[in-house]
Amino acid sequence: MLVLVGLVLCLAPADALTTFPPKFQVGNLNGNMVVKCNTSERQVTWTQNGETEPMVELVAKERTLTILGLDLPATGNYSCWAGTVLLDATYVVVSSTRKEKMNISCQAESYHGSFHCSWAGPPSAVFRARLTRSNGSLGEWVPAAGSSGHFSASFMDPSFCPFAEELHPLQLELEGLSDTSYHNFSYQFFIRDIVRPDPPQNLTVQQRGEQLHLAWAPPASWSLPKSYFALLYRLQYELPNGTQVDKYVEGTEETQLRECARRARISCQDPFTNPAWSPWSAWQGLGAARQCRLRAR
Ligand SMILES: *[C@@H]1O[C@H](CO)[C@@H](O)[C@H](O)[C@H]1NC(C)=O
Ligand SMILES: *[C@@H]1O[C@H](CO)[C@@H](O)[C@H](O)[C@H]1NC(C)=O
Ligand SMILES: *[C@@H]1O[C@H](CO)[C@@H](O)[C@H](O)[C@H]1NC(C)=O
Ligand SMILES: *[C@@H]1O[C@H](CO)[C@@H](O)[C@H](O)[C@H]1NC(C)=O
Ligand SMILES: *[C@@H]1O[C@H](CO)[C@@H](O)[C@H](O)[C@H]1NC(C)=O
Ligand SMILES: *[C@@H]1O[C@H](CO)[C@@H](O)[C@H](O)[C@H]1NC(C)=O
Ligand SMILES: *[C@@H]1O[C@H](CO)[C@@H](O)[C@H](O)[C@H]1NC(C)=O
Repeated sequence: MLVLVGLVLCLAPADALTTFPPKFQVGNLNGNMVVKCNTSERQVTWTQNGETEPMVELVAKERTLTILGLDLPATGNYSCWAGTVLLDATYVVVSSTRKEKMNISCQAESYHGSFHCSWAGPPSAVFRARLTRSNGSLGEWVPAAGSSGHFSASFMDPSFCPFAEELHPLQLELEGLSDTSYHNFSYQFFIRDIVRPDPPQNLTVQQRGEQLHLAWAPPASWSLPKSYFALLYRLQYELPNGTQVDKYVEGTEETQLRECARRARISCQDPFTNPAWSPWSAWQGLGAARQCRLRAR
């Protein structure tokens, strides 16, 4: 029992990280690590996770601290002090032993150069990410939002040109710190491969004489001009007997149906790069008061 309590105490993790620490160091398990206090003070004292006498093998000399045999209990927040004045703090973790393959998914609603990525990670982790832009310059680290193991971040590449063919992939680097370990991975992709438009807008269904007239507008977020950024539309409508029919149209924002349809919905796709279809719009109908009365031909 005593042994168990002791183990639990020793392994009690540092306070969970809530933001990415400004300064951190990654060491190998069982290796030694030197932590420096960035100060002009000659003599400093150290704490680990707020403890003045941590159960860790440490050698302190002037402004440096050597951690001997880095293990999980030795990870966490090392702060140096002049009396009660905080001088500096370094978050110490071990490198992750597993070669990780993160399941990251990115989506762009258009060719403006902005996109959104999400991925899964340890629930206790904090992540940050940065982008190598299409012109080769390196972006700033941005913190990722996250809760219960799901993380996401939005990016913008101001040097992205919607009218030029993408010759080089964008590269995203991700870094994560959990209480005790460091995770990193990178992801390369082309915007053209991650485009998924928003649903088309303002679908209307009207009876005009012997035909149903359907009209809509492209998604508000889609790139302009329309002549360059064409969209392929997929209409789906439901016959009075419940059968669903698909109709594809391109280069127009209206169409006629000769059949009766109870309701219709629409989605769209970039016809040239052929990535994902947009989500469906909501169903639109003629309304209960106005039954479709097209005569059978
Ligand atoms: C480390 O400890 C110092 C002193 O208590 C504190 O100011 C700092 O926010 C802590 N850093 C992290 C990443 O928890
Ligand atoms: C040390 O602190 C100075 C002043 O705050 C800062 O300019 C410098 O970047 C710091 N150096 C390191 C290695 O953190
Ligand atoms: C990756 O994530 C997506 C959605 O987040 C999920 O559908 C897919 O099954 C995942 N793949 C793997 C290999 O975990
Ligand atoms: C790349 O684009 C960014 C953002 O537009 C700009 O700040 C930077 O100067 C550019 N770098 C090069 C090498 O063109
Ligand atoms: C992860 O970080 C290590 C150490 O900083 C670096 O050498 C490695 O290239 C990084 N890996 C990825 C996939 O970014
Ligand atoms: C779509 O409908 C909304 C609300 O009725 C309207 O404000 C907007 O201008 C319409 N958009 C287009 C492209 O027709
Ligand atoms: C529904 O109606 C259409 C057109 O009137 C017809 O072609 C189709 O076979 C019908 N489907 C069923 C399941 O009755």
